[in-house]
Amino acid sequence: MRDIIIAGNWKMNKDLDAVRAFCKAIAGGLKGKVLGRVLPIIAPTYPFLALMQREFAGSPFRVAAQDTSSHPDGAFTGEVSATMLASLGLQYCIVGHSERRAYHHESNETIREKVLAVMDSGMKPILCIGETLEQRDGGITDQVILEQLDGCMRGVRVYTGKELILAYEPVWAIGTGRNATGEQAQEVHRQIRKWLADQYNKELADNLSILYGGSVKPQNLTELLAMPDIDGGLIGGASLDPESFLKMVDIAINYK
Ligand code: PGA
Repeated sequence: MRDIIIAGNWKMNKDLDAVRAFCKAIAGGLKGKVLGRVLPIIAPTYPFLALMQREFAGSPFRVAAQDTSSHPDGAFTGEVSATMLASLGLQYCIVGHSERRAYHHESNETIREKVLAVMDSGMKPILCIGETLEQRDGGITDQVILEQLDGCMRGVRVYTGKELILAYEPVWAIGTGRNATGEQAQEVHRQIRKWLADQYNKELADNLSILYGGSVKPQNLTELLAMPDIDGGLIGGASLDPESFLKMVDIAINYK
């Protein structure tokens, strides 16, 4: 049975007051909910990780980091290592987001090092992959996805499929309001699961949650979750508002 994950990626949004207000609203909204297989996660910026982790201690709600260094420690000003994040009690860390690839020139090899660092620390990476509009229009989506999987996962040991989460995020759908249709996303998710079955094994592939990201909101989540290989969403804009986030958690609870 795969987890259904509603993961909010806040990117560089919200100051201390806004984080506190969100926590308050969410704690109230989650009270008494039977989540079943649904796992709500939020990834705030670094300064608020510890606060949110404390706030939700003992609840099924999880806090994730948005990125980490590939280095274990040392002279890397401004960076934060996976072991430091894990020492806060965090269990998840986003790796390879397309904004990191585009603005910080992260290669598949760098991302692979981060995946390994996160797994070594005991956390689970939420590994993002996805094609640009030019690549989709050029008919090379499959090739790009497979290259990213090969590059970011080379030599990564996965045994059960629960050690890692994948997120398919077509770059053209991120923050544009233009989401992939359920069918478009499903086609890529199906290929990702086939790749996992070929590289590892079918049982592992069936256990691993694959999220879709790119303009997910309460209005399109049902259509996406209806697809057999879509196991939740990695959500930017629509995760910033507590009401919208809780609505998506409810949709997931009621749907799968
Ligand atoms: P969006 O962002 O939901 O605002 O499109 C998704 C993401 O970048 O993870």
